[in-house]
Amino acid sequence: MTQSILFVASEGLPYIKSGGLADVIGSLPKELAKSGADVRVVLPLYKKMAINDHERFDYVVSYDVNAGNIHTMANVYSEVRDGVTFYFIEHRDMFERDELYGYGDDAYRFGFFQHATCRLLEALSYFPDIIHTHDWHTAAIPFLCRTFYSYREEFRKIKHVLTIHNLAFQGVFPEHELWASLGMNYGYFLDGTARFYNDQISYMKLGILYADKVTTVSNTYAQEILTDEFGENMQYVLGLRYFDLSGIVNGIDYDVWNSETDEALAKPFGLDTIEDKLANKLALQAQFGLPQDKDTILVGVVSRLTWQKGFYLMVEKLPEMLQARVQFVVLGNGEANIENTFNYYKHAYPDKFAFYQGYNETLAHQIYAASDLFFMPSMFEPCGISQLIAMRYGALPLVRETGGLKDTVWPYNQFNQEGTGFVFSGKSADAMRMVYDYALDTYYNRPEDWKTLVANAMTKDVSWESSAKAYLDLYQSITH
Ligand code: ADP
Ligand code: GLC
Repeated sequence: MTQSILFVASEGLPYIKSGGLADVIGSLPKELAKSGADVRVVLPLYKKMAINDHERFDYVVSYDVNAGNIHTMANVYSEVRDGVTFYFIEHRDMFERDELYGYGDDAYRFGFFQHATCRLLEALSYFPDIIHTHDWHTAAIPFLCRTFYSYREEFRKIKHVLTIHNLAFQGVFPEHELWASLGMNYGYFLDGTARFYNDQISYMKLGILYADKVTTVSNTYAQEILTDEFGENMQYVLGLRYFDLSGIVNGIDYDVWNSETDEALAKPFGLDTIEDKLANKLALQAQFGLPQDKDTILVGVVSRLTWQKGFYLMVEKLPEMLQARVQFVVLGNGEANIENTFNYYKHAYPDKFAFYQGYNETLAHQIYAASDLFFMPSMFEPCGISQLIAMRYGALPLVRETGGLKDTVWPYNQFNQEGTGFVFSGKSADAMRMVYDYALDTYYNRPEDWKTLVANAMTKDVSWESSAKAYLDLYQSITH
């Protein structure tokens, strides 16, 4: 059996979150730990954590990190939670900033983070069987272990899994960062290993080439990323790893997402007490100044407001969609065009359209609990956590047939009442609009069907149990 597994990631609950990656890092390791494995996680110590959590952490070790132009010290703190040891790498200048990503020196910040992680293993004399890295921020670790740190046999023996959560972000930087941020020989650019486009490098590419296994977060996305449409110019690199590429679908944390015990809700509810879901709807309507009406369908959105999430389709059709008997409650922030449109409708249709611009954990729980329909028309979706939570909370997802949405939402079949949501294919706003009309028609005219779908959705297994087992099998296949 695989004994020790180290996760390295750029965000993770309950400490820091910008999206679904944090949900995964906050829940998969603790599920794996239940198997008896030694599971640890390394995260950067961001400003929010320095303010909220630092006091609680134990000091572990300090050491120097040298790579290219980087010569500095790292301090490491830790905390054990649910059987998982979390390490936090502190560097005030690099990580104690308002945002997590999007800075001009991200190559340098995450170059440092990856080296600091390797050096942590040396400092602790702890060499796990598996290092499981996530997305571009940590994807260069397999490469570093097998080149820069290969002077030690312990590093050479570690096996690596890279999980791609979102191929749209690839850590692409000017070629000089190969030396300046990773401390690696320019030869790796010249021979094409690190090169991406003519004069750039990609951290994600290094991970794809050097990891033993590459996974992504659903089967469909694992196939999609090999195509020109979804491959983000990485499809040929991924094609080289065809036999080592697979999809393992995400689960959600049942301790956090439990509608029967959720303290954020106006009234907790379960399938047996489904009528109590209504109290959450009425409370949310009151909170947003919408008419309190238990019979009007409430459509929820909790999302980053970006092109990926398909909101341009919604923007195109909102004037028509709002003519129906409907209420929308939208939570999110992102691209200005989408935010501005939603702000416009909030003022133009105060009885029908509510918009909270920002990030709000508590409100997210309340929207999932209050909504009848959950809107998620993503253009691409590696897995998607939101539709899983929505189903668990009895809100039927309306999704586009792509990636993890295709693998997790079972379309409504009017003839046998099967299904857990509503699904459209193609990319037209009209197709989305038709399924929206169909969902409303079902809600108003086939309430018994709606009830059945809610029961199907709430009882669907979206836990980590089987996917954690799939990861353990994958680790086993490369360590045996
Ligand atoms: P992605 O990671 O691409 O943003 P996912 O569906 O995998 O999409 O995960 C999104 C996660 O972030 C979900 O847990 C969702 O509830 C949460 N989330 C997204 N936007 C917000 C927001 N504005 N406020 C609170 N939680 C949010
Ligand atoms: C990314 C993807 C999302 C996925 C999440 C966690 O943010 O956009 O689809 O659920 O990672 O794997």
